[in-house]
Amino acid sequence: MASLLAKKPLDKLMSEAEETGEHCLRRALGPMNLVTLGIGAIIGAGIFVITGQAAAQFAGPAVVISFVLAGIACAFAGLCYSEFASMIPVAGSAYTYSYATLGELVAWIIGWDLILEYAFGAATVAVGWSGHLRAFCHDIGLNLPVMPSSNFTLLGHAVQLKYDYIGFIIIGVITTILVIGIKESANFTTAIVILKVAVVCMFIALATAFLWSHAWQPNHWHPFIPPNTGERGHFGWSGILRGAGVVFFAYIGFDAVSTAAQEAKNPKKDMPLGILGSLVICTVFYILVSGLLTHLVPYTNLNVPDPVVIGMRVTGHPWATFLVELGALAGLATVMLVMLLGQSRVFYSMSRDGLLWPWASKIHSRFRTPYLSSIVVGVFVAILATLIPLNVLDEMTSVGTLLAFMLVSAGVWVMRRTHPEVNRPFRTPMVPLVPILSILFSGTLIVSLSYWTQLRLLVWLVIGLAIYFSYGRKHSKVQALNIAASEPRPAPTMAD
Ligand code: ALA
Repeated sequence: MASLLAKKPLDKLMSEAEETGEHCLRRALGPMNLVTLGIGAIIGAGIFVITGQAAAQFAGPAVVISFVLAGIACAFAGLCYSEFASMIPVAGSAYTYSYATLGELVAWIIGWDLILEYAFGAATVAVGWSGHLRAFCHDIGLNLPVMPSSNFTLLGHAVQLKYDYIGFIIIGVITTILVIGIKESANFTTAIVILKVAVVCMFIALATAFLWSHAWQPNHWHPFIPPNTGERGHFGWSGILRGAGVVFFAYIGFDAVSTAAQEAKNPKKDMPLGILGSLVICTVFYILVSGLLTHLVPYTNLNVPDPVVIGMRVTGHPWATFLVELGALAGLATVMLVMLLGQSRVFYSMSRDGLLWPWASKIHSRFRTPYLSSIVVGVFVAILATLIPLNVLDEMTSVGTLLAFMLVSAGVWVMRRTHPEVNRPFRTPMVPLVPILSILFSGTLIVSLSYWTQLRLLVWLVIGLAIYFSYGRKHSKVQALNIAASEPRPAPTMAD
């Protein structure tokens, strides 16, 4: 039992963070790179696709309140992530923090759970990207070949499997960029984030100008909270909560900044800035975009793959509509990039600790990236994006992320009690209140997701535990250190 609680010593973590040399990650990211990395990860399918669906199916115009609630949950979690990311600035994010605080078993569970956030998240966005590309090509008169599919019966149910070849290709392209190098990836992200932010600002400006010049008519905010249909989660206050669980996906990504801690030039100062800065900027954007969109278009018309494009059309600027389409395509690409980056860095850290196979931490001598880890992750995500439907991927991503948020928040609290002396360049305010609120908010959002999602999470964790007990536990470097330390020393001999 004690071995399952084995903790990675903090001084070992710190010395790993200080390592340099050709077998280590390159410290290339400054504060602006980190904020753009965060925005690159955050603004994506959530605002460009899921906002419309959440408004149409669950919350109506009150999706704005859903965004506020999900934003509050993320703010609490972001404060906890910032303390850890500045205190233990090594690659691996929540996985690494929990290894130092809650022990190896919890660390493994988080590492395994983060696959849901990053790998399934990247796959979700790849499927969204594929849908956007089809719509965009259709608009310019180019029809892409239809997706091949196969039909079969599973446990008495007819199942149609679609092979989303576009999702497969885009993941392949982004994986190649990641293998080539972190600096190149950051430059690619910065260029596209500028375009993405410009498109979001343009939507806010043109929608406001349109409504202003029409004396804020039409006003589709009546009723702002549509009455509940009688079914839990469909409009009314329970719908707002369900909407918060759904639009939570839009915020995922700020924590991915922390996975690049070992590649930051000055992580102690810049990590909190990257995490909280990107979160605050995106929260403001989301509240404005969702408010204007539901004001411009009746929420019942928003259950489409490209709701923001529909909103832009209402303002009567075809060139702007075209730009929004382009910005969405580019924007979703950076989300995939940061998520794939995060996933390969988590594998890198787990492998260095001996919990995963050694190939996952092999660094390319020229590119200085964990190339094998990136390639294996890329192939896995490409297969997910090709085969699994969007709604399943998207809820799995959210449930995995929320669980990680809960464990990280608990870790901050535990660490304050067990290691009060450690220097914390950023301190989460009001501990334990903020970690407790973070756990409660994230837990509530997990409960608001579907029963099937919760069941899939359990199955995923059981698979992970089987791998831990059959491989990770036996090869863990921390366990090996503990065994060596507890073995009796040989008795002194005459020669001594
Ligand atoms: N927040 C990311 C998105 O909305 C995952 O695509």
